[in-house]
Amino acid sequence: MSIPDAFGRLRLPAVAAPMFLTSGPDLVVEVCRSGVVGTFPALNQRTTAGFVDWLDEIGARLEPYPEAAPFGVNLIVHRSNPRLEADLEQVVVHKVPLVITSLGARPDVVRAVHSYGGLVFHDVISRRHAEKAAEAGVDGIVAVCAGAGGHAGTLSPFGLIPEIRSFFDGTILLSGAISTGAQIAAARIMGADMAYMGTRFLVTKEALVSATQKDMTVVARSSDILYTPAISGVAANFLRPSIVAAGLDPDNLTIHGALDMQNEAKAWKTVWSAGHGVAAIDDLPGAAELCDRLVTEYAVAMAAAASDPYSIRTVRL
Ligand SMILES: Cc1cc2nc3c(=O)[nH]c(=O)nc-3n(C[C@H](O)[C@H](O)[C@H](O)COP(=O)(O)O)c2cc1C
Repeated sequence: MSIPDAFGRLRLPAVAAPMFLTSGPDLVVEVCRSGVVGTFPALNQRTTAGFVDWLDEIGARLEPYPEAAPFGVNLIVHRSNPRLEADLEQVVVHKVPLVITSLGARPDVVRAVHSYGGLVFHDVISRRHAEKAAEAGVDGIVAVCAGAGGHAGTLSPFGLIPEIRSFFDGTILLSGAISTGAQIAAARIMGADMAYMGTRFLVTKEALVSATQKDMTVVARSSDILYTPAISGVAANFLRPSIVAAGLDPDNLTIHGALDMQNEAKAWKTVWSAGHGVAAIDDLPGAAELCDRLVTEYAVAMAAAASDPYSIRTVRL
């Protein structure tokens, strides 16, 4: 079990996960200043030039805070992303501390990031993809399990985490429905090194999505989440009320063909993604306030687990 030394002293073993149309410089800077790893997808800027503007802005805003956590960017390594080479070049120029790759683990991308001392995490939904990522030489694997926001998997973390640990001794991150500090503690106790949290950070003041989307996410319950490939070609979790608001019937959706980045962009603007973690979200804090709360909840949960390891004794037998 390990958190990379290059991360320095984090306040929490957690990453605020990259979210399409949602994470930008304000969220990343606030999260990193709070001692948690902040990230954003390169494609949240429409061009590589815009991506570079954000890299420069984040670098400048974090410079006065040497104790801040490192930040990361998400690159979609899929043939339908025509910007990969140009964005990767800028990642290398800017020496981005962490790169999170999705939809394809490539040794050449890993080599490029390692060339300046950066780290690569890769997200997976199955053991087979995790094995490929390990072969490609990644530093960390994100196990995207059932109930995660975005392109979620279907496996229970109790199945996938030990399976990945059986052959991978790098950093393992758990993604899927983690919204509280106690749940971060649970992820650590069950074998992950770090928690990887999306939906909880979507409902913060700094997230780029509309107030309407945040409100809908706050009131949603886990049963309001629909797992379907119909929106963009790859199975993902979406808020049922947003599908209804878009004039579609969640129970009678037409399945599209393969993933296409243009469709994906259009679809995700009108139909909103969130994971089962909505169940534990009932407010709209600033990102710094949220991180402080998570730190406290995590410490309380870990202390409780350590001081009362046999809490089963409290159950009447
Ligand atoms: C609105 C939204 C957009 C997302 N966009 C991306 C993305 O662009 N790239 C990516 O790798 N993951 C994306 N994800 C997945 C997250 O990075 C993360 O794996 C997931 O949110 C974790 O599960 P949780 O939402 O239950 O915490 C997205 C998730 C959400 C909710």
